Amino acid sequence: MNVIRILPEKVASQIAAGEVIDRPASVVRELIDNSIDAGADRVVVNIEKGGKGLIKVVDNGSGMSRDDLLLSVERHATSKIANASDLFSVKFLGFRGEALPSIASVSRMAITSRPYEQVVAQRLRIAGGKLIAIEETGAPSGTIVEVRALFFNIPARRKFLRAVRTETYHIIDTVSRAALPFPEIGFRLDDTGKSILNLPASDQQLSRISVLMGRGFTEEVIDRHERNDELAISVYLAPSHLARSRGDRLFVYVNRRYIRDRFVTKAVMEGYGQRLMKGKYPQAILFIEIDPAKVDVNVHPAKQEVRFHDSRAVFNVIVSTIEKALARSSPVFFGSRPGSGIENHGKPQKANYVSEPLWNFARTTQGPRKTFVPEEDAWPGKSEDVQILGQLGNTYILCQVKDGFLMVDQHAAHERIVYEDLKKAIAAGQIEGQALLIPHELELTAREKEIVLQKGNQLTRFGIELDHFGGNTFLLRSVPAMLKDVQWNIFLSELITELGEKELEEYAVLNKVLTIMACHGAIRAGYHMKHEEMSNLLSELGETDLPTNCPHGRPTFKHFTYSEIEKMFKRIV
Ligand SMILES: Nc1ncnc2c1ncn2[C@@H]1O[C@H](COP(=O)(O)OP(=O)(O)OP(=O)(O)O)[C@@H](O)[C@H]1O
Ligand SMILES: [Mg+2]
Repeated sequence: MNVIRILPEKVASQIAAGEVIDRPASVVRELIDNSIDAGADRVVVNIEKGGKGLIKVVDNGSGMSRDDLLLSVERHATSKIANASDLFSVKFLGFRGEALPSIASVSRMAITSRPYEQVVAQRLRIAGGKLIAIEETGAPSGTIVEVRALFFNIPARRKFLRAVRTETYHIIDTVSRAALPFPEIGFRLDDTGKSILNLPASDQQLSRISVLMGRGFTEEVIDRHERNDELAISVYLAPSHLARSRGDRLFVYVNRRYIRDRFVTKAVMEGYGQRLMKGKYPQAILFIEIDPAKVDVNVHPAKQEVRFHDSRAVFNVIVSTIEKALARSSPVFFGSRPGSGIENHGKPQKANYVSEPLWNFARTTQGPRKTFVPEEDAWPGKSEDVQILGQLGNTYILCQVKDGFLMVDQHAAHERIVYEDLKKAIAAGQIEGQALLIPHELELTAREKEIVLQKGNQLTRFGIELDHFGGNTFLLRSVPAMLKDVQWNIFLSELITELGEKELEEYAVLNKVLTIMACHGAIRAGYHMKHEEMSNLLSELGETDLPTNCPHGRPTFKHFTYSEIEKMFKRIV
């Protein structure tokens, strides 16, 4: 028979804490939220050992009296809502009265606080949820929260924390995300006394965006602001040629709360529409301001999800605002579907969008003949049997083969070739670098900077050399010789993100890096190819190990046999 027991209070609160606090970055997020809610205009975060040693948040906000301080670490104690109906119109970032007691139950914490009008501060100490002391002390007005030995009493959880630098990257992300919609608040993040992020207060939203998103984004950003009876929306969008292969630069805020929402992401993607290549995500920031009564924030323990009462209307406003913003400034992606009326005969709308064909530059290695090709998809022609008919929409190469015709996707095909060349070069030691005559200046984000300072030397193997110039600026001195006319800012930003995730030695990561390189180094759809270039591309594709698919797995070509064509025209059944 089952025996149901009520869990001891200590266990229950640790379980509840687990919902709210899962790593040092979530402590940082909760403490910053509290400082913002307390009306601070300056917040300084200090961490040690990726937050595993210390997380200290200092603000100059309202502070707490002795009684409030004692209450603040009690569960469900909040000054922000008073009754159930308030829950449906939350105006603060916090509302549950869960964060401080949760942190207190899994760490050794001290809170020092002084309201402006009081002369002395109070310092409260609590460990593993047990109050140790509260005493008077001297301190500036505002609040200082110090969290030490996170998860000291939950070894299982502590064991799951990642390396110091990984936790540090998460904290940099968290502070950046929290700071983005509050330009009027100055933020600083220090790691063991060394500043890693400094965001001075400003009355300009764009200046905050520029520090966090980098100069590349800001130089090309397209903004638009719309307002109707229901909501106000501000979008800051990077044009589609700055799209990334992951959605890590898509920031959505509802009433200045950062949220992750598949539904909003979908609306953003729809707004970009055909401007985006398949599998690409835009860089974009959205600020939605809506009557707090029309959105439910109480749906996720970490408060990162929301439900809109009228989600259709919100969806439509997002799509239309983005469409209008982009229509004003950027051309539709020229690899658009045939028949869409978009024509681009050999004239790329943005010069830097088009990569130079690789085969203008000597290939150093000759690949072996193909070794593995599934029968039905096999590359159907030796190069001498392939007769090029022409290029379709500057995107596809049409050619006649013995038993029909081929339609080759020039970007996918070239990606396969570049990918295999890179792979061979890596297997042989390293990818050859080519020094740039004039180093390319790169403005990195705080997180990217930390990654490059720690692991940048691993990039040498890929032919890439980066020098720290000062601040967030780096000089790109050498690039892989095989890649030409790449947009280095966006390429490196993707590569560095990958580098931050794991160790490059792992096969899967290496593969991913090479795929990113191939994608950036391959010619684009929309590039007008000369006959000779097409012919080189096809013969090189035939020599690759897997001519049928690009490194992402998309097909490189479609084969139509005469018998399929005849069936299509009902010549045969
Ligand atoms: N930095 C601070 N300055 C002033 N008051 C604070 C600060 N941090 C916390 N408080 C007070 O302590 C209370 C409890 O904080 P806590 O973070 O646990 O809950 P909350 O912010 O109300 O809700 P949530 O659990 O959603 O964060 C707050 O409601 C606030 O009154
Ligand atoms: Mg809070």
